[in-house]
Amino acid sequence: MTGDGTRVVRAGLPEPEAYEPALPGPVFAAHYHLPGDAVGPYTYGRDANPTWTRLEQAIGELESPDIPAHTVAFASGMAAISAVLFSQLRTGDAVVFPSDGYQLLSAVRTRLESYGIEVRTAPTARDAQLDALDGARLLWIETPSNPGLDVCDIQRLSDEAHRRGALVAVDNTLATPLGQRPLGLGADFSVASGTKALTGHGDVLLGYVSTRDAAPADAVRLWRKTVGAIPGPMESWLAHRSLATLALRVRQQSQNALALAAALADRPEVTGLRHPGLPTDPSHSLAVRQMHPGRFGSVVSFVLPDKAYAERFLAALTLVDDATSFGGVRSSAERRARWGGDAVPEGFIRFSVGVEEAEDLIADVTRALDAATQS
Ligand SMILES: Cc1ncc(COP(=O)(O)O)c(C=O)c1O
Repeated sequence: MTGDGTRVVRAGLPEPEAYEPALPGPVFAAHYHLPGDAVGPYTYGRDANPTWTRLEQAIGELESPDIPAHTVAFASGMAAISAVLFSQLRTGDAVVFPSDGYQLLSAVRTRLESYGIEVRTAPTARDAQLDALDGARLLWIETPSNPGLDVCDIQRLSDEAHRRGALVAVDNTLATPLGQRPLGLGADFSVASGTKALTGHGDVLLGYVSTRDAAPADAVRLWRKTVGAIPGPMESWLAHRSLATLALRVRQQSQNALALAAALADRPEVTGLRHPGLPTDPSHSLAVRQMHPGRFGSVVSFVLPDKAYAERFLAALTLVDDATSFGGVRSSAERRARWGGDAVPEGFIRFSVGVEEAEDLIADVTRALDAATQS
C-alpha cells in the first residue's frame, strides 16, 4: 500500500485520459440529459454530481484505504453531523454526546430533545462516555475534542458501544483522516467538517460522512437529498484540489504546533497548555497509540490570565489572524469565550497553527506575550 503523501495526490482521480486534465473541472449542472426511466448515476443536481463523486471517492480512500468506504459530501460539517444524527435516531432513542465537543452540538441537542430523543453527555477525557452507554442507540465521539483537546480511546469505546448495541460516530475534523482513521478503529461513521484542515485554505465550507456499510450510507445520502444540504460543485472541486497538499500541510502544521506548544510551556503567564503531541500532555500516551505519529493536529490551547490580557495578546500578534475556525495554512487564534458556548475561562486561547516558518511564529507569539505583559 502506498504512503499517505502519495495517496493524497491521486485520490479520487479518474484513469488518465489523453488530452483530459488530471482532475476534471467542476460540473455545474442542475439537471442532466435523462432519456427514458429516471435511472442512472446523474439525474438531478440535488441527488448527485460527478464533482462530488470524485471528491467522495478521494475522501473514502483516505478514511479507509484498505476496505472500500462510502462517502457522502455535504454543504458543511454541521450538515454532515445532522445527517448522521437525524437519519439514525428516532423518537424514544438515546444518544451519548461529548459534554466538551464542538459548541453547536448544544443546539443540536435541543433539537433532538424536541423530537423526543434522549441526549446524555459525558466528558471526552478518560473515556467517561462509557458510563452513559446503557441502552443508547448511538455514541457520538469527538477526539481530539474542540477546544479542550482531550482524547478518548476510539477502539475501546467502539467495542463497548457495539457490545451494548450502539452505533459509533467520530468527529474527525481536528485530526483529519491522515491523523487518525476512526473506521479502522471500529467506528461506524467518520464525520468531519472539511472546512478546517481537510481543505486548509479558509475559503470553503464543506462536510462529509464516511462509512463502510451501504445501508447507513444510503440513509445519510437520502437525508442529504431530502433536506438539500448539498455542497456546491465549485467548493467540491476546490476541496478535491486541496487534498493533494493535505499530507504536506498536516506534517508542517503538526510540527509547528508542537514547536509552539513547547515554547509556550516555558512562559509563566501561560497555564492550562494543551496539545496532544506534547509529551507532558495528559492525552499524549493515548494519542500516540491512536493517532499517526507526528500528526497530532494544528491546534494548541492555553489560558492567559484574563480577558484583557488575552485581548492584548491577540491584538499584538502580526502573523496570526484573530479569527475563528482552525486548520488553515495561515495561523489564527481566538479568545474562545467570546462565543459563550464553551466551558472555558475568559483568557482561554484556541490557537490554530499554520504552515509558516516555526521560528517566525514563535518569535511573533513571544513578542505578543511580552507586549501583553508590559502594557
Ligand atoms: C469539531 C468540529 N466539528 C464540526 C464543526 C462544524 O463544521 P462547519 O463549520 O463546517 O459546519 C466544527 C466547526 O468549527 C468543528 O470544530
